[in-house]
Amino acid sequence: MFVDKACGKTEEASKSLRGMRAMKSIVGLKLFVMFGVAFLAILVFCFGNPRSKQISAHAPRRIVSNGEAGTDWEYGGGLAQDHYSPLAQINRSSVHELKVAWTYETGENGSYGLETTPLIINGVLYGLSPSQKVFALNAATGKLIWRFDSGIPGTQPDRGLAYWGSGADKRVFVGIMNFVYALNADTGRPIRTFGTDGRIDLRRNLGRDPASVIIALTSPATVYKDLLIVGGMEPETLPCAPGDIRAYDVRTGKLRWSFHTIPHPGEFGYDSWPKNAWKYAGAANNWAGMALDAHRGVLYVPTGSVSPDFYKPNEHGNDLFADCLLALNAETGKLIWYFQGVRHDLWDRDFPAPPELLTVDSHGRAIDAVAQTTKQGFVYLFNRLNGRPLFPIEYREYPSSTVPGELAAREQPLPAMPAPYARQFLTAAMLTDRTPAAHQWAEKQFKNFISDGQFVPFRVGRPTVLFPGFDGGAEWGGPAVDPKTGVLYVNSNDIAWTGELARNQSQAGTARALYLSRCSLCHGVNLAGSPPAYPSLLHIGNHLTAREIRKIIRLGRGRMPSFSSLSHNQRSALVRYLVNGENGTIQSSESPAVRETRAYLFTGYNRFLDPQGYPAVAPPWGTLNAIDLNTGKYLWKIPLGEYPKLARERMRNTGTENYGGPIVTAGGLLFIGATSFDNKFRAFDSSTGKLLWEATLPFSGDATPATYEVNGRQYVVIAAGGPKNALGAPRGGVYVAFSLPR
Ligand code: HEC
Repeated sequence: MFVDKACGKTEEASKSLRGMRAMKSIVGLKLFVMFGVAFLAILVFCFGNPRSKQISAHAPRRIVSNGEAGTDWEYGGGLAQDHYSPLAQINRSSVHELKVAWTYETGENGSYGLETTPLIINGVLYGLSPSQKVFALNAATGKLIWRFDSGIPGTQPDRGLAYWGSGADKRVFVGIMNFVYALNADTGRPIRTFGTDGRIDLRRNLGRDPASVIIALTSPATVYKDLLIVGGMEPETLPCAPGDIRAYDVRTGKLRWSFHTIPHPGEFGYDSWPKNAWKYAGAANNWAGMALDAHRGVLYVPTGSVSPDFYKPNEHGNDLFADCLLALNAETGKLIWYFQGVRHDLWDRDFPAPPELLTVDSHGRAIDAVAQTTKQGFVYLFNRLNGRPLFPIEYREYPSSTVPGELAAREQPLPAMPAPYARQFLTAAMLTDRTPAAHQWAEKQFKNFISDGQFVPFRVGRPTVLFPGFDGGAEWGGPAVDPKTGVLYVNSNDIAWTGELARNQSQAGTARALYLSRCSLCHGVNLAGSPPAYPSLLHIGNHLTAREIRKIIRLGRGRMPSFSSLSHNQRSALVRYLVNGENGTIQSSESPAVRETRAYLFTGYNRFLDPQGYPAVAPPWGTLNAIDLNTGKYLWKIPLGEYPKLARERMRNTGTENYGGPIVTAGGLLFIGATSFDNKFRAFDSSTGKLLWEATLPFSGDATPATYEVNGRQYVVIAAGGPKNALGAPRGGVYVAFSLPR
């Protein structure tokens, strides 16, 4: 089939663009095939559940868990994950008076930022320090109430906490690396009757040897009735455990159900994999959090890609349920419907954020919907009862892979509306004009790149542009939705990265082979990394001792996962290789299927930056977008963030990379930090995108803020820890709360 290069759409798909109604018939067939299975699942669900008939009788309504009045704040602003607050004391006319109410200094200087959104329940704020110590503060004053140190050095992002209460039994649930603790909300002490001595170990019950499993709960659990539902972050390379979605009893910590995102024999989706994949394949995990329709008991779970990310020679199917939005029965974990955003993902195009629940006006009818943002810059919108898309989805054809053994999927789904919120196709006309020298440099680089838009499989020997990059598009901060208007607010990165594969020339069972199998993905085949985000390991012995390196490998750090499953010998061999270049032999007991995935290597994540470290594409490098989900049209779009140095040189409003999402309030405001280089915390008019207020944080606030009320006073709070992607930048761990002066 002819593929139109300019917009990457097929002839068949262009026909379907003529109108949304026409779409229904043309794409309908594909949708039918895709959703046929889902409908079957719905039927099973409906007939198996006598109460399900009532499903459509529910009037649309906002879904919150605690604090219906909006005085509390749970992760995502509540189970709908809409980041919305009905509070309006701080509003368009009063916001200019906003002042710091208190700050809480965690006393830590996390080496990799602080992504936490605090939890606020009944006037108490629960938060995390960069090394994952838990604390409770008086939310009105910032005074410490208690602190809990698990004794485990937390080295991974930890985006929030979860809460459950029944009478006097009030619990805060927090993931600390591979453990989930149940803490007494009043005292911060572990509740000993939960799991083993107050915690459960997520390495267990995954069908693999727990000692070999690497997992960390980086987004908080979702609480439904007496269930605590979790996913987890997992490695990007093998070995890696499957990303089962699991529900535990909130009281006892007993496992109540698991949904296998890599199906076992006999389960639906099993035939989208080779027959033994469920035993060795990994991930398809939920690392970004979930949304819950508590009234209907339906859980919406976005999943990530399969490990390894970039070369999957023994998978020749669509790899269900990787890169899917799953609707699960929250009570049982049974599948209701699913949508797969990327088939046989070769680009690490995880669903990077929780979905949002809202009600939209679709052709005059109020439809309870679920929206999902992506790294590619798409928003998908579905009827949340049955998974039917509310805007057409086209299946477009993409090129096949040129790498031996790799079989890329023929087609990938794209929403016809809304238009992407990040640029999709990098051309020479879009290169940086910051200086003539930077432009020339970029042009020269660009000539060597393959730049063909989305879903072009990486090749050997020549870089392929990924635009937007590996960090999106959208990221884990997640968007905000105003439930009254159906407008979705999403911040987006808009810079290009490149990727490339290389043949693995190392000899199995050597230190170099081990390095290439676990480390080169980030630190590069040649150890040079991709600074500043991924440090070089060349001459690492000059500033770290062997012991320090072994410790970093064992525990991980920031974006680097822990490699706790490597043996002491393996770690030592790696250290000798890094420090002395010694290529010792080590035992390797990998199965042939795993060994096959090592034949080609991803050579490292590379942002396309100019020699001064600024994006080599023209601005905007980061944006904030307001999209009306009733119509699919943009309300407004603005650049988000600046580089202070460039701003002083009169290059303003470039937008920058940004991490951490917005919140939106009934006061007509949108609050967002996120901009990694200017340390700003901003409030915009949610209806126009006009900047109404800004403050400078002690470190960049690469986290999603929260808003709440105590004693009739509204506060907005954000964690400021420094940018996660600029290694040399100053870092700390401070929570800053703002309110109006009395
Ligand atoms: C997913 C990406 C990723 C992988 C895989 C990874 N690292 Fe890292 N590594 C990082 C990042 C990011 C940092 C910087 C962490 C920080 O300080 O925030 C880092 C830091 C380090 C450091 C400290 C560097 C310094 O200058 O302080 C060492 C040593 C290191 N990694 C070794 C390894 C080894 C050995 C492996 C393989 C077993 C590995 N890494 C795998 C991303 C990765």
